[in-house]
Amino acid sequence: MGRLVMWFGLPLLVLVSLGFYRPEPISKALPLGIVFGSEINGYITPCGCSKPMVGGIPRRGSLLKQLAQEYQLVRLENGDLTKAQNRQDELKAETLIEMLNQMGYDALNLGQYDYQLGLDYLQSLQSQFKGTLLSANVQENGNPVFTPFTVLEKSHLGRAVRVLVVGLISDKYADSVRQRNPQLQVVPHLSALDTLRSQIETQGDLRLLLFYGTAQEAEAIAQAHPYFHMIVYAKGGDGPLPTRTVGNTRLVFAGNDAKFVGLAKIEGEPLGVAQVDYTRLTEDFKDDPTIMQVKLGYLARVEAEDLLGMVPRRPTLTGDQFAGSRTCMPCHSEDYRIWQRTAHAKAMQTLIDEKHDKDPECVVCHVVGLEFESGFQNMQKTPNLKDVGCESCHGPAKRHVLDPQNNRLGKAGPQSCMGCHVPAHSPGFDFETYWKKIEHGFDKPK
Ligand code: HEC
Ligand code: HEC
Ligand code: HEC
Ligand code: HEC
Repeated sequence: MGRLVMWFGLPLLVLVSLGFYRPEPISKALPLGIVFGSEINGYITPCGCSKPMVGGIPRRGSLLKQLAQEYQLVRLENGDLTKAQNRQDELKAETLIEMLNQMGYDALNLGQYDYQLGLDYLQSLQSQFKGTLLSANVQENGNPVFTPFTVLEKSHLGRAVRVLVVGLISDKYADSVRQRNPQLQVVPHLSALDTLRSQIETQGDLRLLLFYGTAQEAEAIAQAHPYFHMIVYAKGGDGPLPTRTVGNTRLVFAGNDAKFVGLAKIEGEPLGVAQVDYTRLTEDFKDDPTIMQVKLGYLARVEAEDLLGMVPRRPTLTGDQFAGSRTCMPCHSEDYRIWQRTAHAKAMQTLIDEKHDKDPECVVCHVVGLEFESGFQNMQKTPNLKDVGCESCHGPAKRHVLDPQNNRLGKAGPQSCMGCHVPAHSPGFDFETYWKKIEHGFDKPK
């Protein structure tokens, strides 16, 4: 017995540990499931400003792992990784491509804001992406600049199925696409499909369209081109909309901003969409550790490129400068004491705990005056302006500090809260109840 292990077991062990020999996974004949979403719009993770918060790619990562136990997945994303405003959005786009790679995404259809990253940049993203960037009707000199459609070799209940996925952008975004890329032409989307029709019909057993446009436009496509099993559209708001059926085509929408994941279950002979489900990414879904690792890499790049230091700055309205909350203490000691006990006085620590303290998209609401010349810069240069300080609401007060009698400050009032307590970050905000938690100003200043 010992000899047998010696002669047969050992070499096998070596092969296994070297990775040459991989036992075949027990092949369960899984049904096809199409995972879809649209317009992540830069929402890698929800900000966490209020609880509970929905969405995020790390949670999507763990959901997809669960689904892969039950389905042979096709993973599709439709338009606008980011809003393409600045350098940070470029970093986000690269980060999202890496996350899509980790999750095994097959294809991404390009939207108007993706095109605003610029053609060269998009081409570099394609080289990083293991799936395919799709765009059937955007051309340069008559040739498509990205792949019009891809054919994925998948299996459905054990038999081979060619899943064909087309990517298309509504022609009404032509100006937006050309704004950053004047050399490109956007072909009317219906006629682009006319050209591809016979290829689509012959090369795909299951035919899907990622359409960057509205439900109404998608309906018109389903009428003129009735050979699609499913059209995923991109315009419709942040939550999923009821599935519509036009002929044999399902029109589906899982909502934007990475809050939900759509799943279309495939069945039957002939192939068709059986059922469409939407999963809301609540806190019940754990963050996938690999995806979180990619996110930390992104935050490290935000810090390394000092995006916080590159925030555009302007002078304050009154021309006054920020002095810092501590300077108020000698004369408004009771107000200072109250403030120190409020959540506002630990707003920067919150970001440090979340590892977002170098992220200008967060810091702007968690410090004093980030958008202003004399406002917060960083913890080394301006530690006195960290947190939501007195001047976040009362405005810059250097002159008042130096000579309070001759430099009165105006009323702060409820509107001073509104710049930060916006619905996306503070959905439950109500001045009366919130003010009670930070109420001050009873004391006579010394
Ligand atoms: C538009 C302003 C704004 C931006 C931008 C913003 N926050 Fe906030 N944040 C708030 C407000 C306002 C609250 C308090 C919300 C409430 O309690 O109603 C808050 C609360 C929080 C809290 C909860 C603190 C606690 O102890 O309960 C966390 C965590 C947080 N923010 C993290 C972030 C992160 C991370 C980002 C960037 C990704 C960010 N914030 C961007 C305004 C903002
Ligand atoms: C510069 C941005 C900013 C302004 C202006 C601002 N807040 Fe806040 N507020 C925050 C942030 C950020 C937090 C979360 C702090 C933390 O916990 O880290 C917060 C938290 C709070 C909380 C604690 C919420 C809780 O559930 O405990 C209250 C109450 C509050 N703010 C009231 C107000 C009121 C009232 C105003 C206007 C008079 C106001 N805030 C103006 C950014 C702001
Ligand atoms: C040298 C003392 C002193 C300092 C420092 C000081 N204040 Fe005052 N503050 C006063 C006095 C005195 C008044 C009352 C003025 C009056 O009623 O004539 C006042 C009034 C105010 C008022 C009521 C509105 C007004 O202008 O009358 C606010 C708000 C205020 N201070 C905020 C601040 C803030 C914020 C800081 C720190 C950035 C600060 N103060 C620093 C002395 C000071
Ligand atoms: C989150 C916003 C916010 C912060 C932070 C804040 N205040 Fe106020 N403060 C207000 C509001 C709102 C009022 C109510 C009167 C008004 O509208 O000006 C007020 C009232 C006052 C008053 C009385 C003004 C009057 O007209 O009677 C003083 C003095 C004052 N604050 C000083 C301070 C000082 C000093 C700090 C920091 C230690 C501070 N506040 C922090 C929003 C804020």
